Amino acid sequence: MKSKKYRSDFLVIGSGIAGLAFAIKASRFGTVNLTTKKKDSDSNTNYAQGGIASVLSPGDSFEKHIDDTLKAGAGLCNRAAVEILVRSGPERIIELMEWGTHFSEKKGPQGNPVLDLGREGGHSLNRIVHARDLTGKEVERALIEKVAQIDNIRIFENHTAVDLLTEHQLGTKIRKPGRVHCYGAYILDNTTGVVNTFNAKMTLLATGGVGQVYLHTTNPEIATGDGIAMAYRAGALIADMEFIQFHPTALYTPKTSGPCFLISEAVRGEGAILLNWQGERFMERVHPLRDLAPRDIVARAIDTELKKHGVTNVYLDISKKSRGFLKKRFPNIYSRCEEEGIDISKDPIPVVPVAHYLCGGVVSDIDAKTTIENLYVSGESACTGVHGANRLASNSLLEGIVFSHRAFLRAEEHLQNINKKFKIPDFPSWNKEGTFDLEEWVLVQHDIEDVKRLMWDYVGIVRSDKRLQKAYRRILVLADDIHDYYKKSTISSRIVELRNMATVAKLIIRSAMTRKDSIGLHYNSDHPEASPIRASVVLQAGRGARLVKRRRN
Ligand code: FAD
Ligand code: SIN
Repeated sequence: MKSKKYRSDFLVIGSGIAGLAFAIKASRFGTVNLTTKKKDSDSNTNYAQGGIASVLSPGDSFEKHIDDTLKAGAGLCNRAAVEILVRSGPERIIELMEWGTHFSEKKGPQGNPVLDLGREGGHSLNRIVHARDLTGKEVERALIEKVAQIDNIRIFENHTAVDLLTEHQLGTKIRKPGRVHCYGAYILDNTTGVVNTFNAKMTLLATGGVGQVYLHTTNPEIATGDGIAMAYRAGALIADMEFIQFHPTALYTPKTSGPCFLISEAVRGEGAILLNWQGERFMERVHPLRDLAPRDIVARAIDTELKKHGVTNVYLDISKKSRGFLKKRFPNIYSRCEEEGIDISKDPIPVVPVAHYLCGGVVSDIDAKTTIENLYVSGESACTGVHGANRLASNSLLEGIVFSHRAFLRAEEHLQNINKKFKIPDFPSWNKEGTFDLEEWVLVQHDIEDVKRLMWDYVGIVRSDKRLQKAYRRILVLADDIHDYYKKSTISSRIVELRNMATVAKLIIRSAMTRKDSIGLHYNSDHPEASPIRASVVLQAGRGARLVKRRRN
């Protein structure tokens, strides 16, 4: 089948909160092609449980939310970005409600309905809007319904972006950041197997996180870091990749594959306590906020308990709440645990930390612009600097809507400026021929399992120089094998993902090796202290990894 050329003002890659929110808004100024590699609702967003953090109660203040975010970020946040995140939060929440999102409510002081605000780790008070424990599903539903009403947006489901269209596709050597331009992407139609060319004046990467590079993760199958790997190949700056957040409480079951079911931190926000195998509370010894300490601290404390006692899991106990309350507040968690034979109103829930969230990604400024012209990024694939070394719970859905809005604010001006001079170079049609070799394909599947296990065993919650060096030596071999197979095989969505996972794993290990201290989510037992010099690890294709000094907040 012949490959096609599509053209629009905006190209959005990804249909989670970041992509959908931007598409809705940008459609006011021009045509939008939105591509997503599975169904439109297949995203991390759809799985979000706890909610969205924002200043919405009279006792709260922007300063408190900013302060909590900066504290969690361990001194590596970009304060300007945090200010934007927090101060524009309430407006964006109201907008989501105007677009049809229903958040949980309770009776206010005068008997009127008010938003029911939950609590999560690291927050000094209740500020999480939620839709019971199915917040992401409700937000995604509302956004998809809104998008469906807009003529200017065309959705391409089952379309996997393969590579960005930048000068590097023309064989031009990658030049300095700011000199490279993006003209859209090569995108595979998964159904026909044809790679089409999608040109656009402004491209937004909203491809989400990387959880799938770890053996155990809360992230669904789509989270393979495609946007980050594509941007890296195109020469964009990438940063903070060593800061992988492990969620302290995924449901422990003996199964070994597939996404792990999350037990939301909001359960601890409602009073659940963590217990070790002997039934003792251990967070009291670790942090003044005890079970609601920031995630890095709770996950590490659990890891210590597991290693100290050689056990598979700890427990989360919410049995002091009534069954009626739990079924209403956490219907999803209640019924999933029930399926596993756990009555959460009586039994402690077996839990374990698993890979959950990437704080780093494609470097962007406070308007979501990357170091490549015409290329913007929002959501989990972005590194705006709002999370620093550790994300505050429920700040990521917020980051997605806030920075997609910032990109939208730039969009009209961007189109006006670019219209005068926009000339798309003559990119060749995708011309990679290949063959499918079943035996090799099976081996490549094993390679990726090895990558996931390697990341889990050697680049987990506690790292060491020796383990990172070993991981790096092995990832070079595995990544080479996967890339070689990619080059000669027929294209498919899965081989695109495997290639990207190998790249992203390499970037995480490289970043972790470059940082010689312990801060936030990165803990290296050979360098257990935080360095007094605050610096970020920045990566760029062809230039390796380097530490860049940051201003103090
Ligand atoms: P996603 O929602 O992951 O969307 C990415 C999209 O890009 C998907 O549509 C995907 O198919 C598409 N895509 C990827 N690669 C390609 C490609 N090559 N071509 C085409 N399309 C592609 N955060 C909170 O703030 N609060 C919470 O309560 C919360 N709970 C969570 C619970 C779970 C179980 C998980 C996994 C995460 C949770 N998070 C939470 C984190 C949050 O959900 C994510 O960070 C956020 O949803 C990311 O949004 P996004 O739009 O950037 O990406
Ligand atoms: C949760 O509900 O615990 C997840 C919240 C988040 O990742 O922000």
